[in-house]
Amino acid sequence: MLRTIKPLNNFKKSVSYLGLVFLLTGCVTGQLGKNNSGEYKNGMVVSAHPEASQVGVDILKKGGNAVDAAVAVQFALAVVYPNAGNIGGGGFMVYRGANGEINALDFREKAAAAASRNMYLDAAGNPIVDKSLYGHLAAGVPGSVDGMVEAHKKYGKLTWAQVLQPAIDLATNGFNITNRQAGELNSLHRKLMDFNPNGTALVNLEHPWRENDVLVQQELANTLKLIQQKGRAGFYEGAVADSVVAEMQRGKGLITKADLNNYHSAWRKPITGSYKGYKIITMPPTSSGGIALIQLLQSVEPYPLKKWGHNSDSTVQVIVEAERRVYADRATHLGDPDFYAVPQQQLLEAAYNKNRMANFNWAAATPSSTIMAGEIKGAEHEETTHFSIVDRNGNAVSITTTLNGSYGSLVAVKGAGFLLNNEMDDFSVKPGAPNMYGLVGGEANAIAPNKRMLSSMTPTIVEKEGKLFMVVGTPGGSTIITSVFQSIINVIDFGMSMQQAVAAKKFHHQWLPDEVYVEKDAIDSLAAQKLKAKGYSIVVKGPIGRVDAILRTKWGNYQGGADPRGDDKAVGW
Ligand code: DON
Repeated sequence: MLRTIKPLNNFKKSVSYLGLVFLLTGCVTGQLGKNNSGEYKNGMVVSAHPEASQVGVDILKKGGNAVDAAVAVQFALAVVYPNAGNIGGGGFMVYRGANGEINALDFREKAAAAASRNMYLDAAGNPIVDKSLYGHLAAGVPGSVDGMVEAHKKYGKLTWAQVLQPAIDLATNGFNITNRQAGELNSLHRKLMDFNPNGTALVNLEHPWRENDVLVQQELANTLKLIQQKGRAGFYEGAVADSVVAEMQRGKGLITKADLNNYHSAWRKPITGSYKGYKIITMPPTSSGGIALIQLLQSVEPYPLKKWGHNSDSTVQVIVEAERRVYADRATHLGDPDFYAVPQQQLLEAAYNKNRMANFNWAAATPSSTIMAGEIKGAEHEETTHFSIVDRNGNAVSITTTLNGSYGSLVAVKGAGFLLNNEMDDFSVKPGAPNMYGLVGGEANAIAPNKRMLSSMTPTIVEKEGKLFMVVGTPGGSTIITSVFQSIINVIDFGMSMQQAVAAKKFHHQWLPDEVYVEKDAIDSLAAQKLKAKGYSIVVKGPIGRVDAILRTKWGNYQGGADPRGDDKAVGW
């Protein structure tokens, strides 16, 4: 039961002995709940959909830990947030246990064994844009189900059946779609019909979708039941695998039974770095996100951002110049570490990143045409959605998961009721040819059989003085890295609450194209004028990022940051 108490922030001197006893008892028994500042003591889930956040908190209340809740939320999002929540896609998890253990799970999709370097090029060698974006050929071998099985096997406390059940219930009984979802599904009506001539639950043949219509997904419920009963085999073998392969045959896709059988997610060592005394724990390749995030933080650390102020011209200029250099590195040096020797160590050296900023000129923008990836000395050995969860013991999970574009390839597997991803577009289909996010790449991220495509997803956990401080991440394609970066500095440098940091207007630069994307009103007109005078091309864009984050306050309470750009919701207890 939730119980409202005096704001914990103000209690230090005024609390009576009796109050203190109540407070401590509350901590132990889990009765404490929410305080007047909207902070919670026992745990929190922040995700893109209110139903999924509720599923996560219900699992925590049943005694599940953060990983149990994460698995339940991942499957629930596949039902209630089909634009990005998925079982037909992939993602990344960063974990930090209350004991300080850290880990990272890569359940990114892979190219099918029959994939080849030039598969999206025409006879003249030019990219056929839609081929990597829509339909069966755009899909990589899904990783989410294996990822959840692995995460649960390693850290879960409740049974597999328990964590699957909420998603099955939501798919069977249906849920009320939001106004935003109704609009999206209506705008995709024609395309969904084209790609799914046999129909899909996402298409309403009776009337356009309206807010609060109930979306029932019986086929998806059946698939989820098979996963509940058989675990990995319920998806990668048997009836569901048969349906995927039949779907591939129908649409000339590449994924085979063997591809499904051979898919395995990978535990990886998280990337760690420091920023102003905080420890950053984040995702290693196959995502570029973690490396790029640490590079950005190292690049701006020497500059007095706080003195300059949030989104002031100087702050924006330094960050844009750092982003330009980091994204140039991303384009050349980052790819699937199982296929390409990513020079991780050098990219993460503070001296390397300081040196990258050495030719930054206050007087004028550095044209991207003059910035190449940094030189690496010698070989080294060695519509997405995000949710953040903390349980009552302080275990934390940060997961970003995706189908890539909104509703992925738009292909729903007939009979199995789930959408396939269009993640193949995240490969560099040709050196220098931009993908749907305008990102370019080369050899490191070229297509190869069984290779994972490079990602920007940046699930991250921040520690302060050895304790959990923040759980953060976002969708947004190429803007993921810069949105996570800004959310972190908004708290650390500019003293914002988690909600303020998430809601604050964002801006973005990614080397190519040489433009500064800004959300409307992200920077004031004087700052914009100054930057334009120095040669920055400023382009106002729609929403940047959709960050869902949790902050642990110094009193040990959890503050949610649910992005107002979407239907996102923080639910605590
Ligand atoms: O892995 C990546 O970087 C992209 N597939 C993420 C796509 C994404 O964020 C879409 N959501 N807006």
